[in-house]
Amino acid sequence: MIFSVAIDGPAAAGKGTISKAVAAHFGFAHLDTGLLYRAVGAKVLAGASPVEAALSLDPGDLESDALRTPAVAQAASEVAVNPEVRAALTEFQRNFAVREGGAVLDGRDIGTVICPRAQAKLFVTASAECRADRRFKELQDKGMEVNAADVFADVIARDKRDTERATAPLVAAKDAHLIDTSDMTIAQAVAAAIAFVQSKLL
Ligand code: CDP
Repeated sequence: MIFSVAIDGPAAAGKGTISKAVAAHFGFAHLDTGLLYRAVGAKVLAGASPVEAALSLDPGDLESDALRTPAVAQAASEVAVNPEVRAALTEFQRNFAVREGGAVLDGRDIGTVICPRAQAKLFVTASAECRADRRFKELQDKGMEVNAADVFADVIARDKRDTERATAPLVAAKDAHLIDTSDMTIAQAVAAAIAFVQSKLL
C-alpha cells in the first residue's frame, strides 16, 4: 500500500509530535525532513560547502542531538534557501514518500513540492508566541542554556526566511487541511490530525 501524508508548517508548530503520532497510529514510516536541512546546516557550521554537504549526507549524520540547537536551526534555514541544496535532497524524500506501507513526511514544502500528490496534506500552525514558548520549554527540558527572547527571535527570523525564499517557500498547499494548535493540547492536535488522515484512507 502506498499512502503519503504531507505535514507542513512554520517553525516549532508541533509538526514533529503530530507526525510521529500519526505514523505510529497508522503504522507508517516517518521522515522529519527538517533533520536533513539541519544536518546540512551543521556541516556548513563545521566548514563544509552547502552543496557538498547536501550531496554527501548519510544516515549517520541525522542522529546527533546537536542538530536540535537554535544555531543549527538558523544554519538549516540559511542553507535551505539554496536551490542546489534542495535539489540534492529531493530524490531521497520523494522515494521515502512512496515506500511500501505508508509514509509521513514533515517539513515546509512536502505538500507543495516534494509530494504534491500526497493522499493527505496537513498544514499545522500556531501563533508565533505559542510556538516560541513551546520551543523555549523544549530546549530548556533538553538542558540547553536558552533565553526566551532569543528563541522568539529565532522562530520569527526562520519563518521570514522560509516564507520569503524563491525556491519552495513555506506556504500551505491549496488542498491542505489546516490545524491551528494555538489553543489545543497535544492530544487534541494529534486527534484532529489522525481523524483527517483516517478520512482520506477510507
Ligand atoms: O523543528 P522546526 O520546525 O523548528 O524546524 P525543522 O523542521 O527542523 O526545519 C529547520 C529548517 O529547515 C527550517 O527553518 C527550514 O528552513 C528548513 N526546512 C526546509 O526548508 N524544508 C523542509 N522540508 C524542512 C525544513
